[in-house]
Amino acid sequence: MALLFISKVDSPEDWTRAFGKLMPELEVRVWPEAGNKADIEVALVWRPPSEALLDLPNLKFIASLGAGVDHLFRDTRLPDGVPVTRFVDDDLTAMMTEYAVLHVLACHRRLPEYLEMQPKAEWRELPQSLARERKVGVLGLGVLGGAAARKLAGFGFDVAGWSRTRKVLPGVTCFAGADGFKPFLARTEILLCLLPLTPATEGIINRETLAALPKGAAFVNLGRGGHVVEADLLAALESGRLRAAVLDVFRTEPLPPESPFWRQPRVIVTPHVASITNPESGARKVVENLARIRRGEPPLDQVDPSVGY
Ligand SMILES: NC(=O)c1ccc[n+]([C@@H]2O[C@H](COP(=O)([O-])OP(=O)(O)OC[C@H]3O[C@@H](n4cnc5c(N)ncnc54)[C@H](OP(=O)(O)O)[C@@H]3O)[C@@H](O)[C@H]2O)c1
Repeated sequence: MALLFISKVDSPEDWTRAFGKLMPELEVRVWPEAGNKADIEVALVWRPPSEALLDLPNLKFIASLGAGVDHLFRDTRLPDGVPVTRFVDDDLTAMMTEYAVLHVLACHRRLPEYLEMQPKAEWRELPQSLARERKVGVLGLGVLGGAAARKLAGFGFDVAGWSRTRKVLPGVTCFAGADGFKPFLARTEILLCLLPLTPATEGIINRETLAALPKGAAFVNLGRGGHVVEADLLAALESGRLRAAVLDVFRTEPLPPESPFWRQPRVIVTPHVASITNPESGARKVVENLARIRRGEPPLDQVDPSVGY
C-alpha cells in the first residue's frame, strides 16, 4: 500500500516520518517517483500537476494538504468518483484563530497607522474606540471563520458573520446569502475574510464591496488572494476609503518584489503563514480516513465538488 505525496512547498521528509510512526506499512512515494501506480491508495497533495491524479487505478481518496481545496479544483483533472478531503484540525484552527485575533486587534488599536508614523518619528495619539463599540465582520463562518468569530466576540467586539447558508452562533449576528451581503458590509468596520476560494467568491472584495463598507474601515485577508481585485483594494487604500489592510494571501505567491502592496502605507504583508498544516496531526487524519474507507465508511472532511469547498 502506498501514498503519493505531491507538493513543492511541504517537506516530504517530515510527512514520511509522521506516517512512519503511525502506519509503517504505508509506503510514502514522492512525486514524480510514483512507482507501481496500482499500489497507490491515497494521494496527499498541494497544487498537483494537472494530470498527476489520473491513471491511479486503486486510488481511494485525494487529501488536500491544506484546509482550502481551490488549488485542486482550479486546473487539476480529478478522477471521477474519488472523494476529495480537506485538512480540518484543532491545531490548524487554533493557529488561524490566533492570527485573526492578532490582526483584528492590530487594526482596532490602529497599529498599521502607528507603523506608518514610526519612520517619520511622529509622536501623535490617534482616537481609539472600545472593543464593544467596534463592529467586526467575518466573511465565512465555517471551521476557521466560525472559530475566529467566537473568539473575537469573547474579546467584546460587536461581531457579525456572513455565510452561504444561515448560521446560529452565540454572540455573533449572522447574515447569509446575497441578500445579507450588503447589510453585513454596511455595519462592518473591520472586515476579516475567511472564505474558501470558489467561482462564487472569486473577486468578492472589489470596488463595489469596498464602497459598501463604512469609510475608514480596515480589511484583513486570511482567505485567498483570488478573493481580492487587487487594483480595487489599492485604490481604496490610496483614497483613504480603507484605513488599513493586513494581507496574508495574494493572487501571485510569493508576492513579487515589484508588487505595490510591499510599499503601500498602512498595509501589513505576511507570506501566507496565518495557519500551517502540522504533519503529525495531518498524517493522523489521513490514516483515520484510510481506516474509515476500509470499514466502508465515507472519509471525514469531504468537500462537495458542486460548490467547490
Ligand atoms: N492563510 C492561510 O494560511 C490559510 C490557512 C488555512 C485556510 N485558509 C483559507 O480559509 C478558508 C476557509 O477555511 P474553513 O476551514 O473555515 O472552510 P469551511 O469550513 O468550508 O467554511 C467556509 C465558509 O465560507 C462560507 N461560504 C462559502 N462559499 C460562500 C459563498 N459563496 N457565500 C457566502 N459564504 C460562503 C461557507 O458557508 P456555509 O457555512 O453556508 O457552507 C462557510 O461558512 C480556506 O478555504 C482557505 O482558503 C487560509
